Amino acid sequence: MENTEKKTILSGIQPTNNLTLGNYIGAMKNFVNMQDKYQDYTKNYIIVDLHALTVPQVPSELRERTYSMLALYLAVGLDPEKSNIFVQSHITGHTELTWILNTLTGMGQLNRMTQYKDKSAKEGTFINVGLFAYPVLMAADILLYNANLIPIGDDQKQHLELSRDIAEKFNYTYSPTFNIPEAIIPKQGARIMDLQHPENKMSKSAESPKGTIILTEDLNITAKKIKSAVTDSDMEIRYDQSNPEKAGINNLLTIYSTLTDTEISEIEKKYVNSGYGDFKKDLSEIVVETLRPIKEKHDELLKDKKYLDQILKQGAANVQSSAYKLLSKVYKKVGLVAPAR
Ligand code: TYM
Repeated sequence: MENTEKKTILSGIQPTNNLTLGNYIGAMKNFVNMQDKYQDYTKNYIIVDLHALTVPQVPSELRERTYSMLALYLAVGLDPEKSNIFVQSHITGHTELTWILNTLTGMGQLNRMTQYKDKSAKEGTFINVGLFAYPVLMAADILLYNANLIPIGDDQKQHLELSRDIAEKFNYTYSPTFNIPEAIIPKQGARIMDLQHPENKMSKSAESPKGTIILTEDLNITAKKIKSAVTDSDMEIRYDQSNPEKAGINNLLTIYSTLTDTEISEIEKKYVNSGYGDFKKDLSEIVVETLRPIKEKHDELLKDKKYLDQILKQGAANVQSSAYKLLSKVYKKVGLVAPAR
């Protein structure tokens, strides 16, 4: 095992649709915290554009959203001097390693993935192979850099467990090669729920736009969405995970707590004599003021594609050689003949 190497933090987000407050709280906020906390680690934050192709895309929109995703990474505080920010398709090793890992992954293992079951149910009769094999590509993203710590939200836990299984299978079949990656899931905010249907996860592809806060939307709309979030009839600002009726208020308290770094018990105390209206009004200000600087920076950065291209070029250049070193090692271990150069 490569214990002597610098440890690596790695994660990725798909440039599909528009990024949500769930992506921010469950993942991006943590990317930025870890960037500062783990100074002596390599940090790779990837825009996983190949993953996005597993559902139908309008090519010009996908391209634009890839830049928008990069602008958001920068706007939330990722610093290209500290973190390698790059596009998945710019490093061809991701797909090359995927092929090798495909040969070590069982159809049954992929069939058990709940996200595949959900997404394929929505796709109707045509289910592409990419959607099925997607978790293997995610494993390749991680293993190509021999990453150790993977900050993700709750819904990626199962995929990460599969990545661990694939790494173990490779190590066992050939010889110890890959670190076994560890999920870093925030204690709070790992699953932000839809504001209108708090029994469902807030999602980029949500059917109810009123329940989803988009990071780049008009902030007046954001405020309205918070103010019209569903709550319950008992009118108490109290967190109770055991009560499905309180799912709406639990979610709002979680958003409040994670964005202000305040314990939920403190928030409950503060609002003990208030109604939902006052609470939601304050929360809408908190969300709007959190997103305002992010949105402004995003909009500004998006005007300078040359600068954004430069960041992507540098990010890919930083990771390229270690990726290919690892891929060559894998090729050799599985018995492929090294090309004559
Ligand atoms: P993706 O693009 O669906 O989501 C990106 C990240 O956001 C988290 N997330 C949420 N967290 C809290 N509440 C929510 N409502 C919410 N919705 C999304 C996700 O858990 C994720 O961390 N397959 C991955 C991307 C990926 C990846 C990787 C991640 C590809 N390769 C390698 C880590 C390492 C995905 O589709 O995430």
